[in-house]
Amino acid sequence: ASTLGAAAAQSGRYFGTAVAAGRLGDSTYTTIAGREFNMITAENEMKPDTTEPQRGVFNFSSGDQIYNWATQRGMKVRGHTLAWHSQQPSWWGGISGSALRQAMIDHINGVMGHYKGKLAYWDVVNEAFNEDGSRRQSNLQATGNDWIEVAFRTARNADPSVKLCYNDYNIENWSYGKTQGVYRMIQDFKSRGVPIDCVGLQTHFTGGSSLPGNFQTTLSSFAALGVDVALTEVDVTNSSTSQYGGLTQACMNVPRCVGITVWGVRDSDSWRSNESPLLFDGGGNKKAAYTSVLNAL
Ligand code: XIL
Repeated sequence: ASTLGAAAAQSGRYFGTAVAAGRLGDSTYTTIAGREFNMITAENEMKPDTTEPQRGVFNFSSGDQIYNWATQRGMKVRGHTLAWHSQQPSWWGGISGSALRQAMIDHINGVMGHYKGKLAYWDVVNEAFNEDGSRRQSNLQATGNDWIEVAFRTARNADPSVKLCYNDYNIENWSYGKTQGVYRMIQDFKSRGVPIDCVGLQTHFTGGSSLPGNFQTTLSSFAALGVDVALTEVDVTNSSTSQYGGLTQACMNVPRCVGITVWGVRDSDSWRSNESPLLFDGGGNKKAAYTSVLNAL
């Protein structure tokens, strides 16, 4: 196959990218995104600060712009994200305890209700752990340790058709505290019947020429708990070809690794644009990393 999406589809997987609504008028950008990918994540447009700027006042205009752009081209969409310590609406800062807990529940119901039956995945909860594997202290965590399972139970009721994911960074290395902390939570959820379908490993890699220790072991270990895994926000400092090829191969080696999403199209589109971390250069040309990924699919 001659595109990332078509190559991934040969094994039943997808290959996605983050898209920013503000770039949909850039024809170089849309040409590449439309050609190469078959799964789309909104880079910022479905986050709580954008979708519920005031209590009970929802705004789906930019999220829908991305959703419509993607689905008109036959692509699927990953929802990102419903409950996170970052990019919260400012009014969440003015409430706490049971009021904030209820606001989170209402937010999940409001946003998932709008997209009901339309999305392939939702990142229900994002980045809830510290590096040592303990829970990250946040206003959401302060509402009670059960906030994550409440978010997932609410999400399942709001839209039973979409796969529900927990998403985080620095959970790629199997012998890392945070990886183990997330693993134990998924194991606990599975044993108690808390609804969860997938784990998203953001896969923001830095430098070096090898993958974080036992990356494939991490993927297969999560999968063995009975969840799908996906690489959800891939970027690699200086687009190391060995790391890009290796992370792709690791996913290909694990049957329940359902797909890979890169966190932007060209280096110039990246949130880490000074680190040249993506598969296309600023001019829209394929980089060596592109070839290493395509060859591994
Ligand atoms: C980033 C976006 O790429 C930026 O445009 C924004 O300013 C900040 O958020 N983890 C996530 C993503 O889950 O939502 C973040 O996206 C990158 C880190």
